Amino acid sequence: MKITFSLNGKGIELDADPMSLALDVIRGLSLTGTKEGCGVGVCGACTIMVNGSPVSSCICLVGTLSDKDVWTIEGLAEKKPELIGLFVENEGMQCGICTPGQIVAAAAIDSVAASSKEEIKKYMAGNLCRCTGYQTILSAVEEYVAID
Ligand code: FES
Ligand code: FES
Repeated sequence: MKITFSLNGKGIELDADPMSLALDVIRGLSLTGTKEGCGVGVCGACTIMVNGSPVSSCICLVGTLSDKDVWTIEGLAEKKPELIGLFVENEGMQCGICTPGQIVAAAAIDSVAASSKEEIKKYMAGNLCRCTGYQTILSAVEEYVAID
């Protein structure tokens, strides 16, 4: 089935099974920054942005992306280099598996609604990290929200 949507700011048409997982389809397009962690919608490693909201691509059928505005870490790295820079400056990563998902989730934060540290924590609660103590990630996101 033909599926059309916007991916990282450019229109794309795929011939794909609409029941395929968005994670697999996106990685199959050589956009391998989107990672698989748990595979069951719990960890956030596979987060992509769909119409401005974070979505777990491991439990998202690619057919549901039809006509949507989809961003992956690759596109956001170009669109929001300041956010990448804040993760680097704050050392908000160790092994890096969760990092793309953390950054995509941070990019989707409503900086008006998330004006306090506690609200930022709630926004980021769906993104787990096995390595860091979370504080470095939260510091990066807090600084981003302050300048966004
Ligand atoms: S890999 Fe998708 S939520 Fe964990
Ligand atoms: S940096 Fe390793 S899981 Fe987060």
